[in-house]
Amino acid sequence: MTEDENVFAPLCASEDIEPGKESVFKVNGRDVLVCRSIEGELFAVEDICPHANACLSGGRFRNGFYACPHHGARFELSTGKSMTNLSTKPLICFDIKEESGKIEILVPEKKKVVFSPGGAPPGFGPPM
Ligand code: FES
Repeated sequence: MTEDENVFAPLCASEDIEPGKESVFKVNGRDVLVCRSIEGELFAVEDICPHANACLSGGRFRNGFYACPHHGARFELSTGKSMTNLSTKPLICFDIKEESGKIEILVPEKKKVVFSPGGAPPGFGPPM
């Protein structure tokens, strides 16, 4: 991880995401779903449901939980933890903060997995 990857980037103005609303942003090549609770707390997660890798946005969120619009898997937004048996994988969460009327976010670039045809599958390298 480089030093640049640890820097919060400007996202939008605070009033762009009203309480009870959500918005999707493209940050570092990733789709990020940002939700603001009725109480004003901000949450940021990757806009991908781990159940079937479908778009998560457009679902329902309430009391810090988000329900996927496709099959109804529910996730805790602060941790990404899956609350149903539909997905054993959690959501990917990002750090988000709000200062002086501005929202900033920390989204690392998605690492590309390099596949070498004919090579050994991951985890089956030469003995160490
Ligand atoms: S794709 Fe989200 S619950 Fe199935």
